Order: sequence, then C-alpha cells, then structure tokens
Amino acid sequence: MMISVRALVLLGLCQVGRRSLASGPELRDPPKRIAVVGAGIGGTATAYFLRQEFGSSVKIDVFEPGTVGGRLATQNIGGYEYETGGSLIHPLNLHMKHFLDKLGLSQRTNLPGKMAIFDGKEIVFEESDWFVVNFLRMLWHYGFNFLRMQMWVESVLDKFMRIYQYQQYGYSFTSVEKLLHAMGGDSFLTLANQTLEEAMLEEGFSQNFLNDVVAPITRVNYGQSVRISGFAGAVALAGADSGLWAVDGGNKKVCSGLLYHSKAELIQARVTTISVKQRQSKAGTTASLYEVNYVGDSGNAHSLYDIVFVATPLHQGKSDLAFPGFSPPIPSHFPGRYHQIVTTLVHGRLNMSYLGISENPDAFTASDVLTTDAKGSVINSLSSIDPVIIPPGYSSPPASADSVWKVFSSQPLSQEQLQGMFLSWDSTAEVKWLAYPHYSAPRRAAPPFILHDRLYYLSPVEWAASAMEMSAISARNLALLAHHRWHSLPGRVDQEDLHTRLRGEL
Ligand SMILES: Cc1cc2nc3c(=O)[nH]c(=O)nc-3n(C[C@H](O)[C@H](O)[C@H](O)COP(=O)(O)OP(=O)(O)OC[C@H]3O[C@@H](n4cnc5c(N)ncnc54)[C@H](O)[C@@H]3O)c2cc1C
Ligand SMILES: *[C@@H]1O[C@H](CO)[C@@H](O)[C@H](O)[C@H]1NC(C)=O
Ligand SMILES: *[C@@H]1O[C@H](CO)[C@@H](O)[C@H](O)[C@H]1NC(C)=O
Repeated sequence: MMISVRALVLLGLCQVGRRSLASGPELRDPPKRIAVVGAGIGGTATAYFLRQEFGSSVKIDVFEPGTVGGRLATQNIGGYEYETGGSLIHPLNLHMKHFLDKLGLSQRTNLPGKMAIFDGKEIVFEESDWFVVNFLRMLWHYGFNFLRMQMWVESVLDKFMRIYQYQQYGYSFTSVEKLLHAMGGDSFLTLANQTLEEAMLEEGFSQNFLNDVVAPITRVNYGQSVRISGFAGAVALAGADSGLWAVDGGNKKVCSGLLYHSKAELIQARVTTISVKQRQSKAGTTASLYEVNYVGDSGNAHSLYDIVFVATPLHQGKSDLAFPGFSPPIPSHFPGRYHQIVTTLVHGRLNMSYLGISENPDAFTASDVLTTDAKGSVINSLSSIDPVIIPPGYSSPPASADSVWKVFSSQPLSQEQLQGMFLSWDSTAEVKWLAYPHYSAPRRAAPPFILHDRLYYLSPVEWAASAMEMSAISARNLALLAHHRWHSLPGRVDQEDLHTRLRGEL
C-alpha cells in the first residue's frame, strides 16, 4: 500500500485539485490584504499557495530587505555563478518539482561525480567508477549495513511522502508535532526526539558504520555529528541518494518565479514590528488587523493586514522582529540556536598532499570529499562544483586540475589554512551562513505555527529538518491552515488517522 500511494503521487495526482470536487459551504469574503515576511523559498512558496487558496482578489505583499532567495543564493567566481547556500534537491521533493513545471524552469542534473572520505590525515574511502567494486568494498567493510541503511531511509521516505496526499486533499496541521505524527505516527515523533546515532544503533547498525559513513553525510549536509536528531538525520541521509538535482540557472530562480506567478508585490524593506490594531468599520463593528511596520530605502512606513505570515526564523542572529502588545507575549527569539556554516569558494588547484595523497595525484578523481568527525578537523567537506548554468561543451575538470571548489567549515578559513589546502588560486569568495538549526536530542517542542489568531510562523518546520522542500511543505500547510481558519472549516485541521482514512480514496 505504501508503495502504491507513492506511485500514484508520482503519477502527478498530488497536484490535481481534488478538493474542488466536493461542493463547499457558503464561504465568507476572502481576506483583502495578506503580508508575508521574507522572500526565501518559504515566503515565496507561501505567496504562491495563498494565491491558490484565496483567489485573485486578495492583495499579497512580500517583505524582503535582501536578495530574493534568502538561503538560496549564488556567487560569481571566475566568470560563472555558483550556489553558495541550499544546492541539491531530492528526486522525490514533489513541491520543488511542481514549482519547476509551473514556472517553466528546468532541472540541472548533478553531473556524476565520485565521493571520497577523508579522516583528517588520509583518504580512507574512495568511490570507484564501478558499482560492483563499491558494493563489494562496502560489503567487505560494513557487511549489510549499507544496504540496510538504504532500506531504512526508504522506509522513512515512504511515510514522509504521505504529506503530499494529505495536502492534496486540503488537510493541514497546527504544529510540527502533529504534522510529523500524521506522516509517520509515533515512530516519527520518537525519531525526532532521539539522536540519529541512538536510532540507528537501535536498528542494529554498527558504531563503525556510523563513524565512517553516516557521520561524513551528516557533516556535509548539516555540519553536525551523528548526534543530530534522527529525523533530520534521515533527511540528511536521503540527501546522499542518487538522482539529486538543482535548478538550471540557480535555485533562487524558483523564488523570483513564485513571486511573479503569485502576483504578489515585493516590498524591499525590513519588517521591524508587528502588532494588533482594532479598527472600527462603517457598520459599527470592530475588527482587528495586524499593523506591519517596516523600514526601507524611503524610510519608515506601516500597513494593515488581515493575515500575516512570518517566513524567517525567529532566532538570535537571524532576524529581529518585535511583537509589541501581544498577550500572551510573542518572543523576538525562540530558544535554540542556528548553526554557522561558512561556504568558501576557491577557484584554484587542490594540494593533494593535504589529503594525504603523495604519489600520483592524477589518479585521485573524486569530486566530493567528505570528512569523518575527527578531532581538530577544520573542514566539513570539499567539493568540486559546476556552475549554475552549464556552458556548452562543459565537462567537470579532473580533481588535479584548476577548478572551483566549495569548502564547508564551521569557522572562516585562515590564509594559512587555504595555503595548506590549495597549491594556487585565482580568486576566493566567502559566505557566512547561520545555516540550519543546531540539532540536539531529546529536543524541546518546536515553536508554534500559529503565533496569534491570524499570525502564522513558517520556520518551526526546520526544527524537524531544514531543507527547501521542508519550507515548501510548511508553506502549503500554512496556506491551507489560514484558509480553513478564515472560513471556519475545522474538518480539515489536525485530523487523526488520515493515512487509514484516505486509503479508501485511492
Ligand atoms: C550552506 C547551506 C547549504 C544547504 N544545502 C541544502 C541543500 O543542499 N538542499 C536543501 O534542500 N536545503 C539546503 N539548505 C537549507 C535550505 O537552504 C533552507 O532550508 C531554505 O533555503 C530555507 O528557506 P526559508 O525561505 O525558509 O528561509 P530563508 O531562505 O532564510 O528566508 C528568510 C528570508 O527572510 C528575510 N528576512 C529576515 N528578517 C526579515 C525581516 N525583519 N523583514 C523582512 N524579511 C526578513 C531574509 O532576508 C531571508 O531572505 C542549505 C542551507 C545552507 C545555508
Ligand atoms: C601541501 O600540503 C602538505 C601537507 O599538508 C604541506 O606540507 C605542503 O606545504 C602543501 N604544499 C603547498 C605548496 O602548500
Ligand atoms: C523527548 O524525550 C524526552 C525523554 O527522553 C521527554 O522527556 C520529552 O518530553 C520528549 N520531547 C518531545 C517533544 O516529545
């Protein structure tokens, strides 16, 4: 059954507006004005789904002081643009796929490359061109751990895929916990509340396998060890699947495309405060509206909205919104911190000796070097990357030639560190990110999706796992939730047992 749900979802059923088949009750007037704070993939996807839910008459304003795209960003080096933030998308990320179709964008397939693992002194594993060779090496070192890991990730993914069916039928959830529970029941809540290490040891994986294979994957994807939560860990492991892709021209094109498609207005300003205002209508009734204060190039201004979505993390260093006058109070910063990742792009030539390769550097052909969780390890990963637009006739340069390398580290690289890693370089560029939550387990409850009556918050989903698709799922969930709450339709909010109930529908 799980497989067939997934197959049907893949057939594209998921995006067909099945809900329109049911004749709805008389609805009140749609909202007049909606604000979205932040134009990353989360905020722009929210604008897109809001247009779908509330129709053409509502005015949607999206506030963004920086570049549209947020953590999806590119940087020019050596004449081409390269991704510096979120870069790879899983083949089963159906919202991202749907956006591409809708916006007429195309996929840029991740050119095949090989992976190696570096323990801080030498290369301890190097992928071969031959599948059979890799398979046998893995089997030799780790028995069936490797195959079992793929099956374990697949089983998590199968449950994860249920969200697309729920959303297609219009179901929404008021908290991250309820959303996780709807997808994978108690097992997902447990997974989110224990470390990946605990979860995998319990499943019978070996500690060696965790140290040598799993840790390098969590380090490249979340810059953290196997002690991140099991759910984030499963998402990280899915990020090591084959068939990953990116958006031709740069991932942030999805964000500008979604803004355009949703006919939202982009207001280039930073929101400073959000508060509630009572308004007297002509008929003598009072209605409450949200006042959004913002500062842009032309100074301070404010506007009133029926509904507001905050699509940026409310955490130290990420944003500084204040919510004066709410009771109970809404904090500017929720507990928990974001993890720093520094992306350094280097157009140059790698020093193979740094990787402990002294003889025959041309024989080393890996394009992705992952690292184990060794003490004093400076880098999280090192990858030779392709530009966001592949020029005609382009092929990835061999590891020993000049190329563009992307280094992830938790601290900026010093000149000495760069000099040890590279024999020579033309140019470098550094981008510092507060990239994703610092995951720990057992965890505290994620912040709420609903901050106040019609004030919604998108980013709590990142405390389950941070990825473009997670923000898109949260955007769809909140657009549905806001719609159902506006029109008082509780039947599609926080329903239990959806998986069993919807079985008959297929
Ligand atoms: C180095 C790195 C690598 C990653 N790799 C991957 C990957 O391979 N695959 C993947 O799926 N994900 C990856 N991610 C995660 C992914 O990029 C994020 O989960 C996703 O982009 C988050 O989108 P968002 O819209 O929710 O938040 P953001 O992109 O952070 O958007 C929030 C926006 O709000 C704006 N803002 C902040 N304060 C205010 C204010 N006061 N007023 C108005 N606007 C405000 C910000 O400027 C920002 O543009 C990676 C992230 C990083 C940093
Ligand atoms: C290359 O790396 C080795 C080992 O870390 C180091 O001793 C050497 O100085 C580096 N070479 C250059 C040219 O930087
Ligand atoms: C996580 O597990 C701990 C015990 O290990 C428990 O006390 C806590 O309530 C759980 N948290 C959530 C959010 O489920």
